[in-house]
Amino acid sequence: MNEEQRKEMSQIQSKDPNSADQNNLNRIKQKTSDDFMKYFETTYQPPNMRDAQRRKKKDTDVLYDFSIPEDMDQSGSGKKYMIRTYGCQMNEHDTEVMAGIFEAMGYESTSNTKEADVILLNTCAIRENAENRVFGEIGHLKPLKLENPNLVLGICGCMSQEESVVNRILKKHPFIDLIFGTHNIHRLPQLLKEAMFGKEMVIDVWSKEGDIIENLPRSRKGNIKAWVNIMYGCDKFCTYCIVPYTRGKERSRMPKDIIQEVRHLAAQGYKEVTLLGQNVNAYGKDLDIEYGLGDLMDELRSIDLPRIRFTTSHPRDFDDRLIEVLAKGGNMLDHIHLPVQSGNTDVLKIMGRKYSREEYLELVGKIRTAMPEATLTTDIIVGFPNETAEQFEDTISLVEEVGFEHAYTFIYSPRDNTPAAKMKDNIPMDEKKARLQRLNKIVNQQSADAMSQYEGEIVDVLVEGESKNNPDVLAGYTKRNKLVNFRAPDSVIGQIIPVKIIKAKTWSLDGELVQEKVEVN
Ligand code: 5AD
Ligand code: SF4
Repeated sequence: MNEEQRKEMSQIQSKDPNSADQNNLNRIKQKTSDDFMKYFETTYQPPNMRDAQRRKKKDTDVLYDFSIPEDMDQSGSGKKYMIRTYGCQMNEHDTEVMAGIFEAMGYESTSNTKEADVILLNTCAIRENAENRVFGEIGHLKPLKLENPNLVLGICGCMSQEESVVNRILKKHPFIDLIFGTHNIHRLPQLLKEAMFGKEMVIDVWSKEGDIIENLPRSRKGNIKAWVNIMYGCDKFCTYCIVPYTRGKERSRMPKDIIQEVRHLAAQGYKEVTLLGQNVNAYGKDLDIEYGLGDLMDELRSIDLPRIRFTTSHPRDFDDRLIEVLAKGGNMLDHIHLPVQSGNTDVLKIMGRKYSREEYLELVGKIRTAMPEATLTTDIIVGFPNETAEQFEDTISLVEEVGFEHAYTFIYSPRDNTPAAKMKDNIPMDEKKARLQRLNKIVNQQSADAMSQYEGEIVDVLVEGESKNNPDVLAGYTKRNKLVNFRAPDSVIGQIIPVKIIKAKTWSLDGELVQEKVEVN
């Protein structure tokens, strides 16, 4: 392989999917299981981070100048909006920002599609089934639009960033009024105006990320737990993942802006803040200062807020400084979600994860030494193209060795224009399903075993409200992220209270209030 070819191959990883060299993509398509490893060992190169860094420094500005345009101010008075959210917490939080913008324009929220004047679907593109659900929902919304032509129907979020999705909507769902992506949420007022008064479908999807807008309004869901973005985008380019394309390059918020937001939430009485990013461990790498997630957590530790957590981690960037800070305890939680994806080094290499099984286990060892009480949870993909039975066994053995207490497990789903989607796959779907089932059985058993150790213990629970399954029971989480259900008066909602565990189940604990230690109104 000469230098030119190597460069071309590396571009497949780093380029915008739409401009990737078709010949190279075809070349990957021809690969068979046997030469995957040879191909990756000889030609795989990480994306060109130096270029990405340069581009970010030049391109990302931090702006504090958001305002509702005069002609849209109070334009929502007497009107209602509804946002249906799919996918991750990043999307949930984007919905809070859009809700804030709607409310700043005078709109009220509704959960009834029939009363809504605007309906937005904030979509997720991570796997094919997430997209299918959205297309199903678009079909359900069509009769509403026929009944009420003034209704504005919009699609936003990660799916909007995909060219194929936009084309499909244009061709098959022309009744949609508005499509916008993840980089231009702040333009919602202008886009709504165009959608209301124009005749054409409004499509405003930026392929390149723009500036960080700091002063967007937010209408937060609830007053106990809050989400705070610390960074946007992802530069990891795992070969199966669409996120670096739909969310753009990594862009960190300035520490002072994050600290101010968290302080403000603490002053408002929030009890838990989750710092959000697709790869939070890369926080700060794009800033001009020497400052990382560990430094940020250390500063946040001193804020009078009972619980601070973060999601999601990438093992590659999880450094000693962060472990040292987390081990200080206090409001740092005893739970680390550390996606591993596979327990086999060769599969990890083809996935572009940039760590080996051994390196992952070494990191787990460091965390366990520093935080012996911590709960570890993970994400796993089974049935990656050509994953052999032996490679899958390595995932099982790693799950057992680490003793994950919970795992989000997925069957690999090919995503358009990602490098993995070009790989030929010889594993039948039935085999993939069988692997998933086997893995889930083991994970569930480990979860049940971990739960059973709590029987008879007293744990501190942040009470969130009524249980989703039973309104007569309250529910909340421990510092190690265990769901606890128990009977108590509503006055304890929002407090952190001691609960005695009487029964362990597979995914939750049943407890009873330790009356004498709680002030009950
Ligand atoms: N197929 C299956 N699972 C995926 N994930 C990301 N992309 C894919 C895909 N193409 C999983 C990973 C990630 C989680 C959020 O979703 O496990 O950690
Ligand atoms: Fe996707 Fe996470 Fe990998 Fe980024 S680090 S590419 S978000 S799986």
